[in-house]
Amino acid sequence: MTEQLDVPAEGTVPLDYPFTRPSALELCPHYAALRENAPTSRVRMPSGDLAYLVTRYEDVRTVLSDTRFSREATTAPGAPRLGPAPQNFRSLLNMDPPEHSRVRKLVSREFTARRVSALRPRIQEQTDLLLDAMERQGPPVDLVPALAFPLPVTMICELLGVPFEDRERFAAWSEAFLSTGGRPVEEILASQAALRDYLGMLVAGKRAHPGEDLLSALVAIHDADDGRLDEEELIHLGISLLVAGHETTVNQISNSVLALLTHPGQLAEVRGHPDRIGRATEELLRMYPPGDEALLRITLEDVRLGDTVIPAGSAVLPSLGSANRDAGEFGDADVLDVTREGNPHLTFGQGTHYCLGSGLARAELQISIGTLLHRFPNLRLAVPYEELPRPAGRLVHGVTSLPVAW
Ligand code: HEM
Repeated sequence: MTEQLDVPAEGTVPLDYPFTRPSALELCPHYAALRENAPTSRVRMPSGDLAYLVTRYEDVRTVLSDTRFSREATTAPGAPRLGPAPQNFRSLLNMDPPEHSRVRKLVSREFTARRVSALRPRIQEQTDLLLDAMERQGPPVDLVPALAFPLPVTMICELLGVPFEDRERFAAWSEAFLSTGGRPVEEILASQAALRDYLGMLVAGKRAHPGEDLLSALVAIHDADDGRLDEEELIHLGISLLVAGHETTVNQISNSVLALLTHPGQLAEVRGHPDRIGRATEELLRMYPPGDEALLRITLEDVRLGDTVIPAGSAVLPSLGSANRDAGEFGDADVLDVTREGNPHLTFGQGTHYCLGSGLARAELQISIGTLLHRFPNLRLAVPYEELPRPAGRLVHGVTSLPVAW
């Protein structure tokens, strides 16, 4: 039976967003109730602004791919926002077509499948090194600092040409950057400025001494006579790649391993068919995405979604986590089934802003999880599941500590 909720229509009190998770891996039951009773429902965000939370698969796809739902409009002064601080910079994620298409095309030219697949041996090598260190250390080991954090961060650093030694500085800025509540506005704005200065300095360095890395390639596009990425675009592209390139994957690795360790039948299936690791990681992406919602959109005109007309100028939150559990799209939608075939989950988004790094993320997930399970056949949780921390108040989240033994 689905939980009954007040349908937040005109005159009723909107639900407070974000919802509280019952435990590290469970999605709040509100989502199932909303999908059934109020699929486009008003919520109050941490900023105090109202938004429409969209929870059904087809509607979420529409919000992500229909140009009447704008990202750019979220950067206008006074626009509704999710968290306490404005995020009004010119990054790829904050642009609408046609400007978005122009910048995305330029980046895609350098961020090719070839560049990513050339990284696979490095991902494997780095995973092996990290797991060697874990083995030497002996159980129990916290898998977050041992594998889930350093692997994606090393890879994004190598890809972009960012010094790995700076990781603690930019990890702290990036954490504040993605905060949706609980941190003072001044701190968030200071982190935005610090990341901007840091990327500005790196770009200047690449211009003086270009390397083989992606940032140098992007600077070269910028510096070409037909210079089609301006300085701000370049810097914010660097920030997006650095932030998006590690926060998400770090959480996805730890959430995925946790899910397998708490579903022994599924774990056995993955161990028994290492060649099907790709299918398994897609299912883990569907069930346990590192964020419940994609970024906020604003309607450019009145838009009908199902029975609801969303007025022009409204904030809209498309729920990827909920769409991925929609029984209208997925059989046994609430069941983790690592053998699931044809899995059109929305964890990497859809349409215009579809994740640029999905190829890299997939390679990292498949190699790290596959190798971990192979090297540690008796891997298990070293603390009770209920004790695992998953802090709220962040756009991208996961367990921050995952002690394991073997
Ligand atoms: C498991 C890992 C990842 C997940 C779940 C993920 C998820 C997403 C999602 C949902 C979006 C679209 C957001 C929206 O429309 O509101 C997105 C966009 C993006 N992601 Fe990822 N991402 C991951 C890893 C990465 C990596 C490794 C990189 C970079 C190397 C990356 C770079 C980007 C960029 C640049 C965009 C913006 C694309 C655009 O606006 O055109 N992501 N990602």
